[in-house]
Amino acid sequence: SKVSKLLLLPGDGIGIEIMTEAEKLLQFINANTELNLELSSALVGGAAYDQTGTPLPEETLSLAKQADAVLLGAVGGPKWESLDISVRPEKALLRLRSELELFANLRPAIVSPELASASSLKAELVSDLDILIIRELTGGIYFGHPRGVFEEGGEKVGINTYRYSESEIRRIAHVAFKTAMTRGRQLCSVDKANVLEVTELWRDVFNQVAEEYPEVTLTHMYVDNAAMQLVRQPKQFDVVVTGNMFGDILSDIAAMLTGSIGMLPSASLDINRKGMYEPVHGSAPDIAGQNKANPLAMLLSVALMFKHSLQQPKYAELIEKAVAMTLTQGFRTADLSRQDWVGTAEMGDQVIGNLAKLLN
Ligand code: NAD
Ligand code: IPM
Ligand code: MN
Repeated sequence: SKVSKLLLLPGDGIGIEIMTEAEKLLQFINANTELNLELSSALVGGAAYDQTGTPLPEETLSLAKQADAVLLGAVGGPKWESLDISVRPEKALLRLRSELELFANLRPAIVSPELASASSLKAELVSDLDILIIRELTGGIYFGHPRGVFEEGGEKVGINTYRYSESEIRRIAHVAFKTAMTRGRQLCSVDKANVLEVTELWRDVFNQVAEEYPEVTLTHMYVDNAAMQLVRQPKQFDVVVTGNMFGDILSDIAAMLTGSIGMLPSASLDINRKGMYEPVHGSAPDIAGQNKANPLAMLLSVALMFKHSLQQPKYAELIEKAVAMTLTQGFRTADLSRQDWVGTAEMGDQVIGNLAKLLN
């Protein structure tokens, strides 16, 4: 069948360990199905900075542009924290998102009943939770100008600009409404329209776009209340849509509903649903290199890739099912269990073993 070109960007810290598991999974799929996946890897983040002096070498960027889909592990770590912000590992991620125009970031938070007890919330509040946070990823305060630290009146001032154009808001609104149509048709837009003009515009544009989707119920919520509601009664939500920084913060809250940030995958999509697939978590320097990281967020990100970019929803479902079976069998990494936990590599092996059973 058609060749799919996949670019693997392991990055730093546990990014390397979890990408090893993703690669094992992809090679297994290549060897045991009719799919034809062409895998290549490139440098990104601190690893790229150490070898080339830049966190995003031009070669990596051009390979990413040519690929059908990109998988990213994680970037960053204490080793690079004192570098100038322009060459920090995180800059590579921001530039990839921006250059590839990956404006729509989907972060599903799903809790299977067997994991409900791993959450820091009461099990009944999160059991069977299935919410989706849609985060605008290439605008907002992350990218607005002016930005920087300037001299002003004999002291330094730091400036970032929270900016959204109507067209940027409209395109993420369409993704949000269309996605809500495929689910529970409840869309909650999160803003700070009581204080910030930029999100007043956000709210107006969402209300306009809503007229094209009469079957979706649109509600609006202020971000401070949304943070509270997410831990008070998370199942009240179906799809939540918000700007870049609010989405960053709310998705880490949502991660904890699932028991661990090591469980949360994400898809970062452009207008044609080409995409980069990345766990929500970072490089976890505190556990890096110890075979302790939970690889499931990465493996579930591979599932999202099959669904959104490779048009192979069947393989997305198979991977998700293999992960669920592994959890049902009782396998847990250290972030999900105090005792009898398995390492990163064994967790990956179990998922692949279950996938093998599902394919037969
Ligand atoms: P982090 O997500 O890396 O870690 C937060 C906590 O969660 C740590 O205790 C870590 O051990 C734990 N954790 C994270 N992922 C885990 C996993 N898969 N399995 C088990 N435990 C896991 O966030 P941080 O500590 O704030 O950031 C560390 C570095 O990662 C920073 O340089 C930051 O900029 C970077 N970062 C990168 C990304 C990314 O590449 N997408 C995302 C977030 C943070
Ligand atoms: C994320 C991360 C990134 C972000 C950082 C590492 C740039 O926290 O993907 O959630 O803030 O977007
Ligand atoms: Mn984040």
